[in-house]
Amino acid sequence: MSKLGTLYGIGVGPGGEELLTLKAIRTIEKCDVIIAPSAMNGGVSIAYETCKNFIKENQEVVISHFPMGKPDKEKKVFDAFKTIEKYLKDGKDVAFLTIGDAFVYSTYIYLLKYIKEQDYKTETIPGITSFCASATVADKILVIGDEPLLIVPGCRIDCIKDEKYVVIMKFYNQEENVLNYLDEKGFDYVCVQRAYREGEKILNTREEILNNKDYMSLIIAHRDSEF
Ligand SMILES: C[S@@+](CC[C@H](N)C(=O)[O-])C[C@H]1O[C@@H](n2cnc3c(N)ncnc32)[C@H](O)[C@@H]1O
Repeated sequence: MSKLGTLYGIGVGPGGEELLTLKAIRTIEKCDVIIAPSAMNGGVSIAYETCKNFIKENQEVVISHFPMGKPDKEKKVFDAFKTIEKYLKDGKDVAFLTIGDAFVYSTYIYLLKYIKEQDYKTETIPGITSFCASATVADKILVIGDEPLLIVPGCRIDCIKDEKYVVIMKFYNQEENVLNYLDEKGFDYVCVQRAYREGEKILNTREEILNNKDYMSLIIAHRDSEF
């Protein structure tokens, strides 16, 4: 049997080229095919834009549409798997790009399930997460000492129990509910949008957050903290 290709899942960081790791760049450079997700059909891929200066003309680029949380997402992931499988069977190495880290709320995780079921070789390259990047943008610590850090999507905001340090991700169109909960539980918070990318914003008040809704936002919330 001829050689099969390897799938590399690559976390490309929050968006800025400077936050790509050397390992991510070196892995992208050695792959035959680069696959990058886009949130909109025919739209730009943030992950691709982040790395495009390191992709050469002889590398094949495929921008795949993954609708965020829509019912046809499962089918799109399976279609992407079939596309990737074709390249792997042809002996080509494939780089699948994800924003932030590949193992944090990423489409790559769903894809990997199919790839592993078929026993293809895979390697995952870590990336700087959006919450680590956003903490530095806002100059706000994430967690300290013996405290836990809770990372929660907007739809599960009521998971917060006695934590002092919380990160809320993926809360587009749930801003009001999330902020009501945080206000009620006595949190201070800051919202960071598009960290390290064009359009980066730091929003410090409830009004600013509600007037500047953007999917690429996260909230860092603290209570009873001296930091
Ligand atoms: C599908 S998750 C991807 C998470 C990513 N894999 C990571 O490691 O950060 C998308 C969510 O990540 C957050 N996000 C991603 N990039 C961001 C950025 N540059 N600035 C602020 N939040 C970001 C937002 O909460 C967004 O709704």
